[in-house]
Amino acid sequence: MAIPTTRTKKPAHVSIDLEKCNGCGECVNACSDFSFEIVDKKVTITDKSVFGCVGCGHCMMACPQGVIAVEGRTLAPVQLFDLPDKNIVPTYDSLLAMLQRRRSIRKFKDKPVEQEKVNQILEAAQTAPMGIPPSDVHVVVFENKKQVRAFAEDFSKYLTSIRWIASNWFMTLMRPFWGKANDEMMRSFIKPVFDVYVDDMEKGDNWINYDAPVAMYFYGSPYTDPADPIIAATYAMLAGEALGLGTCMLGAVHPFIQTGKKARLFREKWGIKHKSREGLFVIFGYADVHYKKGIRRTFADIHRVS
Ligand SMILES: Cc1cc2nc3c(=O)[nH]c(=O)nc-3n(C[C@H](O)[C@H](O)[C@H](O)COP(=O)(O)O)c2cc1C
Repeated sequence: MAIPTTRTKKPAHVSIDLEKCNGCGECVNACSDFSFEIVDKKVTITDKSVFGCVGCGHCMMACPQGVIAVEGRTLAPVQLFDLPDKNIVPTYDSLLAMLQRRRSIRKFKDKPVEQEKVNQILEAAQTAPMGIPPSDVHVVVFENKKQVRAFAEDFSKYLTSIRWIASNWFMTLMRPFWGKANDEMMRSFIKPVFDVYVDDMEKGDNWINYDAPVAMYFYGSPYTDPADPIIAATYAMLAGEALGLGTCMLGAVHPFIQTGKKARLFREKWGIKHKSREGLFVIFGYADVHYKKGIRRTFADIHRVS
């Protein structure tokens, strides 16, 4: 067995056309799992691989002769493509400008997002790095406002059914078990979230996903590195920005739909196949709020080791 994901539990298979290999060693350099050695000016596959081939494809992408084929773990040589021209990648300045202009957008024009842009966002998000290939990120795509709204209304109904979690008696009962920080978080964040998501939705105000024209939910599986869906969501958000859309990440749905039978039924209803440590929504649409200035934000700490 190789490192398991929901897509595959087998290692990939590497084959080399030795007649055409010129022993340049680029694959040895590119492989981070000690899979290759140059012996007598030809590459050989070693038995030193730590994990078995995970199918990152780096050897195949680095080989100037095109003589390496990695197959399995969702990879095949047919997926190789020519690198885009270096001259069209964003410069630091243009990338920074896009990042500085980005804001979390929660008000959208009543204008659908083109199908082509949804596809472009998904294409870009799938370039994201992952802990171990192949990506075990799953995405639920809500392609129009009606679907986005229907999800929010259903989520609000679901929250109503588990609202006792944010009741005073339950929080007081649990405080000795889950500690001060969790108690503070419950009272200052979770309880108000319930209030707004349930009570305001009943009045017609959607604070859950803001009736966005498009939403995507990125989540993992029990195998997925918890960072993977978050990184994929970030790529999607940035792709949305590059396409001229307003975007906002939404973290508040995911934790509520992980535990218990009701959560499982809710997940099943919406095509969410797994529980996962981390997950994130991103909403997209044409912004109906415009900012005249950017704002300098800072990390809590940058400690430069001397
Ligand atoms: C992980 C994460 C979760 C978030 N969850 C929500 C959310 O549930 N609802 C919401 O309105 N905004 C959410 N946001 C948006 C933040 O509130 C927003 O990024 C922050 O206020 C800073 O604003 P800016 O993105 O315009 O710089 C989230 C952002 C991140 C990164």
